[in-house]
Amino acid sequence: MPPNWDAVRCQFPVLQDWIYLNTATFGPVPRCAWEAAERHARRRDGQACLDFIDWFDDADRVRAQAANLIAASASDIAFVPNTATALGWLVQGMDWKPGDRVVALEEEFPNLTYSGHVLARRGAEFVEVPAPGGEFSLDRFCSAINRRTRLVLMSTVNYSSGLRPPLAEIGAFLGERGVRFYVDATQSLGALRLDAAAIHADMIAAHGYKWLLCPSGIGLAYIRPEVREWLPPALYSWRSHKDWRRVDSLHHGPPDLPTDAQKYEGGIQNFPGIYALGAVLELMLGLGLEQIEQRVQHLAALARRILREAGAELLSDRLSHYDAPIVAGRFAGADVSRLAARLREQRVVVSARHGYLRVSPHFFNNEGDLERLREALTAI
Ligand SMILES: Cc1ncc(COP(=O)(O)O)c(C=O)c1O
Repeated sequence: MPPNWDAVRCQFPVLQDWIYLNTATFGPVPRCAWEAAERHARRRDGQACLDFIDWFDDADRVRAQAANLIAASASDIAFVPNTATALGWLVQGMDWKPGDRVVALEEEFPNLTYSGHVLARRGAEFVEVPAPGGEFSLDRFCSAINRRTRLVLMSTVNYSSGLRPPLAEIGAFLGERGVRFYVDATQSLGALRLDAAAIHADMIAAHGYKWLLCPSGIGLAYIRPEVREWLPPALYSWRSHKDWRRVDSLHHGPPDLPTDAQKYEGGIQNFPGIYALGAVLELMLGLGLEQIEQRVQHLAALARRILREAGAELLSDRLSHYDAPIVAGRFAGADVSRLAARLREQRVVVSARHGYLRVSPHFFNNEGDLERLREALTAI
């Protein structure tokens, strides 16, 4: 049975007042996620927090659901407050030598490029591979990888243009050369499927507040088992010793670290966020990841048609690798920030980024929402 997409819309109160096509900025949080956080709040009071170790058991169940999302194991997953944290673990935990090379694509999200520039201040070489006219070339990318290349930083989908680089080919190429591969999945996880092993990622991080429809401040990181053998935690806490659950008699002395990815997390976690994430993952896994991806791609194709008919120039019309639910269009001579503001006056929410009007539908949108976008654009 295909999912009942109309019924799912009841989970999103924002849809009552807005045509919300802006998940690339903030994903709306479904009712079930807020309710899960609220249940946690009531349980805290009801149990006087005496059961707090059980919250970690619940968190481990969410960890296992999160692992399902990217075809990994629960032991590979750490919770993070944002992706910058996960990126910091990797970048600060690697042993850099002067002249080591870090590579990213031009126009990447600043988290990634700032890390490259900061490493360059410390003697590394930071290379941003150009994409002239928006064109991604695998050959051009591969030719930027030399013997000194240690790390590649890349988003699954570019936050502004919607570029979706071929991660499996890139990851295989890097894996053969022993180059570490960090993948930021914030702009696709929850909408497009991702297989951690298939893209040969060393680390994947995704903040949950966009396509994973979570409150901000909760995200997840995948850390490949082989990486966990050498990457030290950046933080040490009472959970750094493998027997940390025995809180009545915490270990004293040097910690014997757990081997799974939770060793990177530090201490007490964002439990309201984790319960919310668990509820969203249940919703998404129930709908089916393949069905979600198909729906999102169908709505993105409609959005592309509407922008094109409204006179926009779309990179996806002349280039490959733009098959993502971030649909970005340029309108010659138009100020897209102003256009986004005028759409907002008609209660249609999209965004403007680097000269593109950015429309980002998720599975809770429908054809009617896109029709309203068409009408609003025509009226303007
Ligand atoms: C690709 C990407 N990564 C990460 C973020 C957010 O960064 P952080 O998780 O550090 O808050 C964004 C926000 O737009 C993004 O587009």
